[in-house]
Amino acid sequence: GKDGYRHYMEKELHEHPVVIGQTLQRMIDPVTRAIALPEFPFDMAALPRAIITACGSAFYAGLVARYWLEAEARLPVDIDVASELRYRNPPLTPSGMALMISQSGETADTLAALRSLREREQHIVSILNVEGSTMGRESDVVLGMVAGPEISVASTKAFTAQLSVLAVLTIAIARARGAMSAKREADLLAHLLDLPSRAAEIFSRVSDIQAMAASVAEARDVLYLGRGICFPVAQEGALKLKEISYIHAEAYAAGEMKHGPISLIDKDVPIVVIAPSTILFDKTLSNIQEAKARGGRIMAFTDQKGAERLSGLAEHMVILPDVDPFVAPILYTIPVQILAYEVALRRGTDVDQPRNLAKSVTVE
Ligand code: F6R
Repeated sequence: GKDGYRHYMEKELHEHPVVIGQTLQRMIDPVTRAIALPEFPFDMAALPRAIITACGSAFYAGLVARYWLEAEARLPVDIDVASELRYRNPPLTPSGMALMISQSGETADTLAALRSLREREQHIVSILNVEGSTMGRESDVVLGMVAGPEISVASTKAFTAQLSVLAVLTIAIARARGAMSAKREADLLAHLLDLPSRAAEIFSRVSDIQAMAASVAEARDVLYLGRGICFPVAQEGALKLKEISYIHAEAYAAGEMKHGPISLIDKDVPIVVIAPSTILFDKTLSNIQEAKARGGRIMAFTDQKGAERLSGLAEHMVILPDVDPFVAPILYTIPVQILAYEVALRRGTDVDQPRNLAKSVTVE
């Protein structure tokens, strides 16, 4: 049941901290803090490259993983949505790693991509919530997220669970390839293990998210902006808003705005910015100033340091706990999904069963 929550989505949003914790515990020994993954039937150190594929929210988790694998593990990554990849016929070196990401493990396009990547002699590593699914049976390695059943059609906790698995996998590959020091491994694992507590703190900011939602709910179009590792979080936010509130939303890498979408900006278009204090903060800030100068209404997700720079610019701010940039996409996803939920409530839509959508898309 819904355990007293109004919707499954609300219940599942509240499960983020526990799900992140459980998923990490399964991969990190709590005492020694050593990474313990299932046996891999190939040598991680020898991987020529990785190809990542998935659909929808799971694809955005893959986009975050691309930043991690490239920057931390120095592994070349190709990524595409499964419905494109399955017909793309890219040149592939045998013995690469194909990373498949799926909550259900039954998504038709992702399954078809898995089969074609297997035929092309890729090692299939799947990140799944339903481990006994069709994709689970057809993979060389299954990395389970420990998200529990996700009933709401819109994915929530599965996304942060996917990111938790991908973060640990990145560290394991980076270490195997000699691309990461033991010190950095220990630091990043500590930041990850700290996340459930930081995530739990987000629920004390719900009234700020609700104030932002009241503004966004009036809009016809919404822009989401982020840079670097937070660009996929912006994409996830825009997808979730479209999906459950039926408000048109688009995500852009903040630096792309001046190449077209800035012409959309006026006082009626809220601009939701994902802006933690990372090395890209100043770049994002100047994009925010450009948007503000054209009458844009800025809604910012940031931290204390970012808030000081954004005061006077942002109409609404949600100030999140300080976290290391590596784990920021996991933390920032949570309030961005809560925003979509709160907007949908105000629009009176069927939050758990949005029109035209099915939980598991088993047809092409
Ligand atoms: C978005 C959403 C969908 C799924 C997509 C993939 O909220 O739920 O975009 O993420 O259909 O589904 P899985 O992960 O089951 O392959």
